[in-house]
Amino acid sequence: MKQIVILISGTGSNMAALVRAAEREDWAGRLDARIAAVISNRPGARGLQTARDAGIATAVVDHQAFDGREAFDAALMAEIDRHAPSLVLLAGFMRILTPGFVAHYAGRLINIHPSLLPAFPGLHTHQRALDEGCKLAGATVHHVTAELDHGRILEQAAVPVLPGDSADTLAARVLTQEHLIYPRAVADLLLNM
Ligand code: GAR
Repeated sequence: MKQIVILISGTGSNMAALVRAAEREDWAGRLDARIAAVISNRPGARGLQTARDAGIATAVVDHQAFDGREAFDAALMAEIDRHAPSLVLLAGFMRILTPGFVAHYAGRLINIHPSLLPAFPGLHTHQRALDEGCKLAGATVHHVTAELDHGRILEQAAVPVLPGDSADTLAARVLTQEHLIYPRAVADLLLNM
């Protein structure tokens, strides 16, 4: 059975959507995959409890306990590799990863980003879309490469930007779509593995 590891930093609503999808008959029956662990770089991440409530193993690798990115990424890799995952899914994981980490998981490291890439890589995507006067916003599931938010695109969803939107109202509209496209992209990847 294929193992999946999910990395989070906060609420973990995308992780929860993936967990729900993995429990559904069509995923569980067809794809021969399970979510082996949820790992956070923040001890207080709300998603950790959500994962535990779903009966999934959790771990914390606190980036603040390490002297630099290389040392943190090495510890994170060791924790991930205990599960020998076929896929490592970044779900609101707010860390820039070293080239060595990205190379180690080449082809099996996936991210969801809250913009229609290649527009708006990086942070504050919703405010930047509003500032530019965009009429559409959205989210992208993509392979992770050494260049931030630039890997090959697997799935996208677009939503309208509505008059009176704030970054928060737009983020909430985009997030509902994230919860649909991330499980779909992962299921497609698993089918083809
Ligand atoms: C999501 O909108 C995700 O796309 C974004 O953080 C949010 C996490 O929400 N990720 C990034 O900005 C990555 N650069 P969640 O914890 O509820 O899934």
